[in-house]
Amino acid sequence: MDKVLKVDGVTAGYGNAQVIFKVNLEVASRSLVVIVGPNGSGKSTLIKSVVGFTTIHGGRILFDGRDITGMPVEARVRLGLGYVPQVDNVFPNLTIEENLRMGGYLLGKKELESSIDSVFKVFPFLEERRSQLAGTLSGGERQMLALASCLITKPKMVLLDEPTAQLAPRVASRIFDKIVEIKKAGTPILLVEQNARRALEIADKAYVMVAGKIMFTGKGEEVLSRSDLGEIFLGRL
Ligand SMILES: Nc1ncnc2c1ncn2[C@@H]1O[C@H](COP(=O)(O)OP(=O)(O)O)[C@@H](O)[C@H]1O
Ligand SMILES: [Mg+2]
Repeated sequence: MDKVLKVDGVTAGYGNAQVIFKVNLEVASRSLVVIVGPNGSGKSTLIKSVVGFTTIHGGRILFDGRDITGMPVEARVRLGLGYVPQVDNVFPNLTIEENLRMGGYLLGKKELESSIDSVFKVFPFLEERRSQLAGTLSGGERQMLALASCLITKPKMVLLDEPTAQLAPRVASRIFDKIVEIKKAGTPILLVEQNARRALEIADKAYVMVAGKIMFTGKGEEVLSRSDLGEIFLGRL
């Protein structure tokens, strides 16, 4: 199957500090790939390396057939990389609609309007409450808005960093449903999750990351069925 993303032997970090080491990871088209692992293991750093926010010390990153390793963040976004950060992923002092327009600032006016209409179809509450300030939304609603703002540009792939962190299980479950919906509509997703069990259940492929290295790669259910991985690496399974 076609690879949308290939992380090839990447060592990266912040300035001189190295945080992830010789990481190999692939995301096939139309697939959902999950990275799990304990806090501080480098999951966000890996995702940020794909987006362009880290210092790359070695290796290459290929996206949609191109080497994007040294490319500026904005150029990667223009190529179709969508990213929802772990925190501060909406503008609290802007309304829902203004947030969506910010998400689509790279688009032409006509394209933006049709794109906003299509995300309203996926997230109807955003349309009903388009004038509400994002800062007054609940945690789950904010995550939905962050996801919607990312989808506005119709990305070729989406990177999601812990979209269900600190959410009640029922709310998290609705986010997972949306993630599955987005994948089914054809957009590949690379997802970092602390809610390891549910994420592994819906994953086509899973990576377990510990101390900056990939310790295991396999199907989500393999990780779930291996008690050694669950107990040692995930803790919260
Ligand atoms: N901006 C940064 N500058 C320096 N070190 C950082 C920065 N962000 C994260 N780190 C360090 O990188 C390591 C991995 O962090 P992170 O990638 O956020 O892990 P995870 O997402 O798995 O919890 C941690 O030791 C963290 O302190
Ligand atoms: Mg993180």
